[in-house]
Amino acid sequence: MQQAFKKALEGPIFQLISEAAHELSLDCYVIGGFVRDLILERGSHKDIDIVAIGSGITLAKKVAEKLPGQPKVSVFKNFGTAMIKYQDIDLEFVGARKESYQRDSRKPIVEDGTLQDDQNRRDFTINALALSLGKADFGELLDPFDGLKHLEEKLIKTPLEPGITYSDDPLRMMRAIRFATQLNFNIHLQSLQAITEHKDRIKIISKERIVDELNKIIASPVPSIGFKLLHQTGLLEYILPELTALQGIEEVEGQRHKDNFWHTLEVLDNIAPNTDNLWLRWAALLHDIGKAPTKRFDKKIGWTFHQHEFIGAKMVYKLFKRLRLPLNDKMKYVQKMVFMSSRPIVLAQDHVTDSAVRRLVFDAGEHVDELMTLCEADITTKNPKKQRKYKNNFKLVRTKIVEVEERDRIRNFQPPVSGEEIMKTFNLKPSREIGLIKDAIKDAILEGIIPNEYEAAREFMLKKGRELGLDEG
Ligand code: CTP
Repeated sequence: MQQAFKKALEGPIFQLISEAAHELSLDCYVIGGFVRDLILERGSHKDIDIVAIGSGITLAKKVAEKLPGQPKVSVFKNFGTAMIKYQDIDLEFVGARKESYQRDSRKPIVEDGTLQDDQNRRDFTINALALSLGKADFGELLDPFDGLKHLEEKLIKTPLEPGITYSDDPLRMMRAIRFATQLNFNIHLQSLQAITEHKDRIKIISKERIVDELNKIIASPVPSIGFKLLHQTGLLEYILPELTALQGIEEVEGQRHKDNFWHTLEVLDNIAPNTDNLWLRWAALLHDIGKAPTKRFDKKIGWTFHQHEFIGAKMVYKLFKRLRLPLNDKMKYVQKMVFMSSRPIVLAQDHVTDSAVRRLVFDAGEHVDELMTLCEADITTKNPKKQRKYKNNFKLVRTKIVEVEERDRIRNFQPPVSGEEIMKTFNLKPSREIGLIKDAIKDAILEGIIPNEYEAAREFMLKKGRELGLDEG
């Protein structure tokens, strides 16, 4: 193992940092994610954290002097850290600290700790592993909390008593769950209990930091691992109450509806292998949120969620705003996906007609394939017959989308006859009639009455104009 570490540190960067530290007569170590991912063989980690026993800032400056091109050193005095961007690598230097993390404090951090003091104050044993960059013990692993063993056991455990570690920085509760999801690790039982106990402390953490972790959970191969843990510890209630509201099955007059919370997690897991688009995954997570406020029991038809897609899309805006997620085209995209999330299903339950497919392509536009991916993931029925039927129908819808596209080019639809031409033809000023004619042409194309071509559309316009009693000028 020792040899392997030495080899991994053979790169010129580490040699150079080692040199710099030697010249300053201080010890320094690579620590954290780089070491963890090296052992896990997770590919090269581009953020390299260096802890110095002494001033991290001084070390960073010395390292920058030695690097080709002398890159800039960004110093964050209040945090006692310094950063260097070199090629595609981010080097972060910090002085070993005795006290807990004071990330949001304005007080400068006193750099007076030993390596062990610093390791004590890190989040998890697997993130406290350090490799020496000292001349004498270059590449030696310093692992006071059995981090290596925990990596083998796939265990997330805090170096100190979990209550202390999570109080130092409550975001670590989210980080524990995020690492468990990304790495498919278990969280140590006492840690899990501590998270449950301290869950309300998440309130003091900025939304941006929470969302960073949430996004990493959503982007993981099996996101439900994280959501189950968020739910189990009670954190989810604070972060996404819209989701916990979906939990539960009600029964009235022997009629039950499905548990939409667990269904949602299945949908999210289903979509994960088919898309890396974070926002499509968000749409999968939120596609049913409108079901909690719209749930009703109707004596004749049973459980209904009338207009839940519309209400859900409205809720997306509020949720994005609350979590300080971007209120831009990403949000609009998620809204659109939520709003349209039932369209292909309704279509696939029936005989699939060309005009229905044309309308779907028209409404979904450039996102129609992603909408189909969402709807395919939405099939969670355990009834194999229904499962087969829906899947086959969706296949048919996909084939028809391609056919209709080739023929009618509905995606990014541009009216074949412009408003200007309508005005000229009938000698009209801007008026309601122009909209009527334009809509009639569009509908005729979507219904397959005329092809999406200029000549046919012009003829149809003339006919429609006559019906409206307009004179051709
Ligand atoms: N760290 C910590 N507590 C936090 C954040 C970070 O103790 N709330 C420590 C951990 O030792 C961690 C290191 O700082 O390994 C670097 O943090 P960061 O870059 O956020 O995470 P990585 O572990 O590098 O992992 P990833 O890049 O996957 O986020």
